[in-house]
Amino acid sequence: MSGRRKFVTGNWKMHGLGGSLSEIASIAASAAALDDVDVALCLPATLIARAINAAPSLMIGAQDCHQERNGPHTGCISAAMLAEIGAMLTIVGHSERRQDQQESDADIKAKAEAARDAGLSVILCCGESEVEHDAGQAVARVTAQIAASMPGGAAADWLTIAYEPIWAIGTGKVPGMDDVAEMHGAIRTKLRELIGKEADAIRILYGGSMNGGNAAQLLAIPDVDGGLVGGASLSAEKFVPIIEAAAKA
Ligand code: 13P
Repeated sequence: MSGRRKFVTGNWKMHGLGGSLSEIASIAASAAALDDVDVALCLPATLIARAINAAPSLMIGAQDCHQERNGPHTGCISAAMLAEIGAMLTIVGHSERRQDQQESDADIKAKAEAARDAGLSVILCCGESEVEHDAGQAVARVTAQIAASMPGGAAADWLTIAYEPIWAIGTGKVPGMDDVAEMHGAIRTKLRELIGKEADAIRILYGGSMNGGNAAQLLAIPDVDGGLVGGASLSAEKFVPIIEAAAKA
């Protein structure tokens, strides 16, 4: 046993209106019945407060935050604003934001530190493109991202890493189990180099086409401490088998 408790987070991306609150409550009820797994949902900002109200036992988070506390940044939301409405965590550095909003490793480090300062936990994402994967550069790319985006004061009580190969997101493609094991081992080694012993307590999630059919196998890999789940987190029917697999892993 690693001593690290499994952690499964759903990332709803740009999905969900008020009609989804009953689905969130249903996920929360199933999660509350499981002892050996931490479960969270990272929701659109518009749903966070209502989800906390509808499902108070569930950890509810955001998908991004701005790196400053406030200022002239039209349309942006700060970590302090998320904390104020009851969010407990936020994702930073998702590949969709790296691509759509051109976020750099330096931006992601600043966002992670802003979230930490506001009292939020952070899931910091990394992952290689298909081209990098095919060129055999995945480990080099991902460990470089981690080194460049690692926030100060990294500690397991607030920081989690999520490895999401970009080519596996929403495609139904999943890397070979040996490749996942190699990557998660390489991330752990890089974390030890950067932050020493605390690295062994930090959870490293896998994300990219995780579902009820492959979760048990992925979660049995030694340094896979949970999952960051997109499409399959949108309904209790698809998400609950994943969190049940994590509770048994
Ligand atoms: P899918 O599970 O839909 O592949 O998405 C993964 C992801 O991007 C989670 O952040």
